[in-house]
Amino acid sequence: MADFSIRRYKNSDYDAVRLMFAQGMLEQRSATCFYLLKMPRVNLFLLVAFTTFLVVSKSYLLSLICLASLLAVGWHLINSEVHQYVKRCHGEDLLDIEKSYMLNGSSCFWVAETERKLVGMVGVQAAQNSDGEIVLRRMSVAKDQRTHGIGKALCRTVIDFARKGGCKVVSLETSMVQYAAQKLYERVGFKEIKVMILPTLFGKLTNFSILYYTFDIK
Ligand SMILES: CC(C)(COP(=O)(O)OP(=O)(O)OC[C@H]1O[C@@H](n2cnc3c(N)ncnc32)[C@H](O)[C@@H]1OP(=O)(O)O)[C@@H](O)C(=O)NCCC(=O)NCCS
Repeated sequence: MADFSIRRYKNSDYDAVRLMFAQGMLEQRSATCFYLLKMPRVNLFLLVAFTTFLVVSKSYLLSLICLASLLAVGWHLINSEVHQYVKRCHGEDLLDIEKSYMLNGSSCFWVAETERKLVGMVGVQAAQNSDGEIVLRRMSVAKDQRTHGIGKALCRTVIDFARKGGCKVVSLETSMVQYAAQKLYERVGFKEIKVMILPTLFGKLTNFSILYYTFDIK
């Protein structure tokens, strides 16, 4: 891997940043599917559905087709949930990145690049209801550049920014299926402070959790 450098966001990064965010999030679809397929209640549901199809149709082939259709519907639901999330974020802070991150001293956005190609990104914003706290957001590294320390370097950039700005805490949230992100934050020194079930129907049905981390600036 070529050496990378980290610099502040420029408007010419706009499309690449939005694309990298979408790609990072869309990857979570398969992790979410694996998580669901490992749940006993999902296995039981699929077994009951398969047995019911078999009893009604008396055909293994038809029952397998019905089971495959159920799985396809499940994939479609997860896919549209993630697409909706990406669309929402593209319409919020990532709609005008310059305005959301670059116009005041308590927020910033950085990109990592190698040979003029964008390979990583991260942003911070002041926490809504807490003085001295900033929130790390939109961390992502290009798939073919991972595990080479870019994520850690982006985290350190955020921590340096917080320290220089006199902040006391950097906070962030990630999901239970973002295992690489959890490892990254823990390696950098973030501590998990709370786990909450996603407050949606999907979250309640599947116990899908959001993990909250903080890093205390010494
Ligand atoms: C999470 C992510 C940013 C990590 O970026 P990265 O550049 O690969 O991270 P680093 O190379 O700096 O790795 C940091 C630590 O995490 C560990 N790590 C990274 N990916 C890992 C994985 N898939 N499995 C286990 N450990 C992993 C590394 O081994 C390293 O630990 P070390 O210091 O012991 O070597 C990247 O995987 C990514 O973009 N994921 C998709 C988007 C996403 O989930 N973003 C997080 C939003 S909250």
